[in-house]
Amino acid sequence: MEECNILVVDDEAVIRDGLQRILNRESFRVDTCKSGHAAIELLQQKEFGLIITDLKMPGMDGIEVLKAVKALQPNVPVIMITGYATVDTAVDAMKHGAADYIAKPFTPEQILDKVRRVLEQRTITIDEICLRKEIISHNGFHQFIGESREMQKVYHRIIHVAATNSTVLITGESGTGKELAARAIHENSPRKEKPFVAVDCSSLAETLLESELFGHVKGSFTGAVLTKTGLFKIADGGTLFLDEISNISLSTQAKLLRVLQERKITPIGGTQLVPIDIHLIAATNKELRLLVNEGLFREDLFFRLNIIPIELPPLRNRKQDIPILIRHFLKKYTVEIGKQIRGVAPDVMSFLENYSYPGNVRELENMIERAVVLAEGDIIRNEDLELWDRDDTSAHGGSELIPLNAEELKEMKRHIRDHAMETVESVFVRNALERNNWNVTRAAEETGILRPNFQSMMKKLGISAKDPH
Ligand SMILES: Nc1ncnc2c1ncn2[C@@H]1O[C@H](COP(=O)(O)OP(=O)(O)OP(=O)(O)O)[C@@H](O)[C@H]1O
Ligand SMILES: [Mg+2]
Repeated sequence: MEECNILVVDDEAVIRDGLQRILNRESFRVDTCKSGHAAIELLQQKEFGLIITDLKMPGMDGIEVLKAVKALQPNVPVIMITGYATVDTAVDAMKHGAADYIAKPFTPEQILDKVRRVLEQRTITIDEICLRKEIISHNGFHQFIGESREMQKVYHRIIHVAATNSTVLITGESGTGKELAARAIHENSPRKEKPFVAVDCSSLAETLLESELFGHVKGSFTGAVLTKTGLFKIADGGTLFLDEISNISLSTQAKLLRVLQERKITPIGGTQLVPIDIHLIAATNKELRLLVNEGLFREDLFFRLNIIPIELPPLRNRKQDIPILIRHFLKKYTVEIGKQIRGVAPDVMSFLENYSYPGNVRELENMIERAVVLAEGDIIRNEDLELWDRDDTSAHGGSELIPLNAEELKEMKRHIRDHAMETVESVFVRNALERNNWNVTRAAEETGILRPNFQSMMKKLGISAKDPH
């Protein structure tokens, strides 16, 4: 066990001295205080790895000590000693962020067990993730997170092209932020009040794509019952983002080239040329040059698009950005999912820092989202990541992680939100039952709850005394 200063706060000398002896034997360094006020004074002078405090004390009680700890040394775990435990106080303690609680009387083994468990769970907290790396909390650019030189170059390019009207080709592997870059260009351009229209060229068949882009006049083909305004026209004055440009057919490529040369479109079935004013941004995760060599992409169009290239670097080539991304997504998903996650286990952190991320930032984001959803405690542990179907534990190659099923994820989030409170209660009730061999009467007595009330809690939580699982 790591070296650690423990602070014991209890008004009873027997408990203070007893705990000190037990913990000293295990070579922990121990300070003791006999009141909450004394503890707070000490907390302002000295750092602790763990605090054990009595709940019921004259003057300042354990909950107030807990609150002070959260304010002064927020990452330090607190174990609460409860005497006449009631569900309310124990639940209250957990709600205020106690790591665990132990009911009096307890044996040396019981308290050492709790201490070890809590210390093993010692976490690299969300805020420490980047402090450790001495990264100042400067937030990248626009929605981008990342401070690496590679990303700084991207930000500069974005600012530069946003001020021009030159066609931009954004390249980069899947999940590197190509769409984010396109939006950032628009947001930083004089066109930002006008529409940003994104078209996924891979999701539409050739004829559909053309009628989406150029529009059509009524009756121009079977099914064209109404006149349709094309996206080029809808984006007029703004930005048109053609995503996955490598997927368009050679004939659509020819039409696109004409538009870029003439800055005019003809709706399908129409005769009039309509002038358009757009900033065109295209993106691809393929090597367009290779497609040009294979005759699958027009060289003249490639040159037209590639006036200003922006290449988004894969995450594995800018590993220094990983911690700040982890912190960002942890914060984002703890808020979104409504779970209190303090941080990650050290082995999780080192895995995340060394993984190769074939799916880049999107993969990292999915991993964190899923881990936050699955985490059973308040830290992300190895198991929460290993539930992934992952065959790459090394730092090279491998396949992208299977993305979350959106429905399944939504369902889990809803469940977690609804049951966050019940989980605390459930742990409390189960522990009480376990300590009393699943004898309901004794468990109710021990927790100071009337038996019928205890039973109705069990019922609400779906806990049956006959089935201790
Ligand atoms: N540097 C970054 N900082 C924060 N979030 C990022 C960053 N890069 C990407 N993301 C996030 O990762 C996800 C994927 O980004 P985006 O859709 O822009 O990738 P892409 O390059 O277009 O991927 P694909 O080729 O698969 O379409 C998005 O949720 C985006 O917000
Ligand atoms: Mg994309």
